[in-house]
Amino acid sequence: MTLHLPNEVPKGALITDTHAHYDDKRYNEDYDGLFSALAEKGVDRIINCGCDIKSSEKCLDLSDKYSLCYTAVGYHPCNLPKGDINLSKIEELAQHKKVVAIGEIGLDYYWHDDNKQAQKKAFREQLSLARRLSLPVIIHDRDAHSDTLDILKETKPVGVVHCFSGSKEMALEAVKLGMYIGIGGVLTFKNARKLVEIASTVPIERILLETDAPYMAPEPYRGKTNNSALILFVAQKLAQIKNLPCEKILEITHKNAEELFKF
Ligand code: NI
Repeated sequence: MTLHLPNEVPKGALITDTHAHYDDKRYNEDYDGLFSALAEKGVDRIINCGCDIKSSEKCLDLSDKYSLCYTAVGYHPCNLPKGDINLSKIEELAQHKKVVAIGEIGLDYYWHDDNKQAQKKAFREQLSLARRLSLPVIIHDRDAHSDTLDILKETKPVGVVHCFSGSKEMALEAVKLGMYIGIGGVLTFKNARKLVEIASTVPIERILLETDAPYMAPEPYRGKTNNSALILFVAQKLAQIKNLPCEKILEITHKNAEELFKF
């Protein structure tokens, strides 16, 4: 794997990547080298999001070994088992001191539109577990905006809608409910008009930066393997949109992440 890194990072900048998947096997070769290279570029904290029991456990292993790694545990809507989810196992994993959220959980009707009821059930069960454990949630919503918003209104969780792809109206409703909006590499893509408008409308205090690594690398590395240092390019784009210095964007979003996840 080639590690693409930005040349210059603002002095003293601290980057929190609120959504990544470093359990992905393309990173396996050299975790020591990877995380020390990222730390040198100002990456301060990374939340690895589990997609099922096995990946949640692997993310926890990374948290045990690397001080900058934190973990969210849960079932991604694309990784649901045939029968019920093992909620008590998620609860057990959530006792680990570096678990900062339940996630990633949610609805995905793009890849799976034949099990909507099962997805909604697993989503609701994990939302209520998060509430019981007083943990925030990391939400995945792909082509399921209206059902996601309905469930948010009904359950009023604390958390983030990651890689936000809904409408501006939905973003503002989610913010009104107390949610954060997760923004990553898509913001830098040429066809990102809708997301640019959302980013200009949502208050900066409600925005979290993320990679979704290994996916969603920003320009100029679109299509390559993503990493947390490339968040700088997302921050630079957001700085243009918000008419603020990039340093300020990094500082505020870093603080937003601290407030939500209480590392
Ligand atoms: Ni993800």
